Amino acid sequence: MEDPLLIDIDCYENKTYRVEGREVTCRAYLGLRYCTRPVDPIQVVNIFIPAHYADGYDAATVPVFIPNTVGGYLPGPAEEPGIDAHSGRANALFEALAHGYVCVSGGVRGRTTGKATTEFFEGSRAGGLGEATGRKVGRAPAFIVDEKAVIRFVRHNAGRIPGDVERMVTDGTSAGGALSALAGATGNDAGYEPYLEAIGAADERDDIFAASCFCPIHNLENADAAYEWQFCGQRDWHRMAHKRVGEEVARVPVEGLMTDRQMELSEELKKVFPAYVNSLELVDGGGMPLTLAADGTGSFRDRVAEEVVRSAQRELDLHELDGPLAGWGVEGADDVAACPALSVEDGRVTAVDWERYNRHINRMKSTPAFDSVGLDSPENEEFGDELVDGRHFMSHPEIIDAPADTMADPVIVRLMNPIPHIGPQTATRHWRIRHGSFDRDTSLAIPTILALKLRQAGCDVDFRLPWGLPHCGDYQTDELFTWIDSLCGVGAGGSADGATD
Ligand code: DHB
Repeated sequence: MEDPLLIDIDCYENKTYRVEGREVTCRAYLGLRYCTRPVDPIQVVNIFIPAHYADGYDAATVPVFIPNTVGGYLPGPAEEPGIDAHSGRANALFEALAHGYVCVSGGVRGRTTGKATTEFFEGSRAGGLGEATGRKVGRAPAFIVDEKAVIRFVRHNAGRIPGDVERMVTDGTSAGGALSALAGATGNDAGYEPYLEAIGAADERDDIFAASCFCPIHNLENADAAYEWQFCGQRDWHRMAHKRVGEEVARVPVEGLMTDRQMELSEELKKVFPAYVNSLELVDGGGMPLTLAADGTGSFRDRVAEEVVRSAQRELDLHELDGPLAGWGVEGADDVAACPALSVEDGRVTAVDWERYNRHINRMKSTPAFDSVGLDSPENEEFGDELVDGRHFMSHPEIIDAPADTMADPVIVRLMNPIPHIGPQTATRHWRIRHGSFDRDTSLAIPTILALKLRQAGCDVDFRLPWGLPHCGDYQTDELFTWIDSLCGVGAGGSADGATD
């Protein structure tokens, strides 16, 4: 019988994509089914073969770049090279194709799959997010199942189309960054097999070569405690709400004050974070334990603060906010010395006052930041299913008095978190994590834990908190591609300078 997961190599279109006076020409395979028993129309993939491979590669050696369009745990449809509606710049797909990589854009299900939504999050695409089929089949762990099926599909077609399937690199922002991290951390993990079998994914390995993660919103069951560890004591919150209006994204500022009850919950959540951090047995590069005392102070906190100092120093030295990161930063962030939390002497950032820094960037979410008491957060919906709209998932449900029958299955919660999967066996050895130093969507502890866990597992990790950036991604893609090229021994890439320790 014919194999439906083999690409008909002649079935492509010649395409030219134009953005701001630049153009890329490619062969495009559009709308291919990547699994044999799809449950939603979004489960298709676009593959783009550049007319010119990046310098130093040929058809057999060129990396395969796989950016996703997931934001807010919403569905992430397959896209084409073009303008990113949120940043107004070329999307990562366009940049990677222009650089000369084979590019793959796979559509993955999300929490609102089956229904229409006007929600919009960072990393997400504007426009429609799929069809309102009425079948809510996109809840956890669907997005990582689909991402793995895409990876397997590409590997299944090794040699039929250009690209080195042992050089697959995933990329994503926010919930999409979490997806990229999951793809990296859970390659070939048997726990996903029943789900992959159900949708008819190719029978192939699903590990990848490298993962690029911008502000990954992950480790959800511990993210509430981490948030209060950083922001406890702040009653006011401010953020920008986003809404899809056709192909556009509208922004509305919203703010509020936490209630007395929320202030109490914040204290309780903060108290449970040290035990979680200490359970991870993190160490720094010299083997010194990174821990927290009951009051939230300690070497782990010092370590996160050091990352902030390193970030500010880099900006003072390189002025990236006035150069390659122009337009990406929070207003006024380019005046590093004006940040009231920093001590700066003779061009050296000598210290950060942690409390003041957190006051300066200010919380954007009320308590709990992720697992809402009213079961109405994006993450609650992610842990729902076809019958139940939302579930709780936090590690300490007693703090919010969550009844046992409102809790997500711990097996599914684990399938959604890269952290418990990371160890010496982790197949993906190369990681690049970027998280803006002014990002308040999750605690700075969360990406730091990811980076530390990976380093302890022996992975090569390029981790940095770019100074003054809010929650955003796919900036400085030229650096990202230089990193990938250096991993492949191509170009003047050198080793990743973001690696600490
Ligand atoms: C995203 C942002 C959040 O604050 C969150 O809780 C989940 C996802 C996002 O931008 O993808």
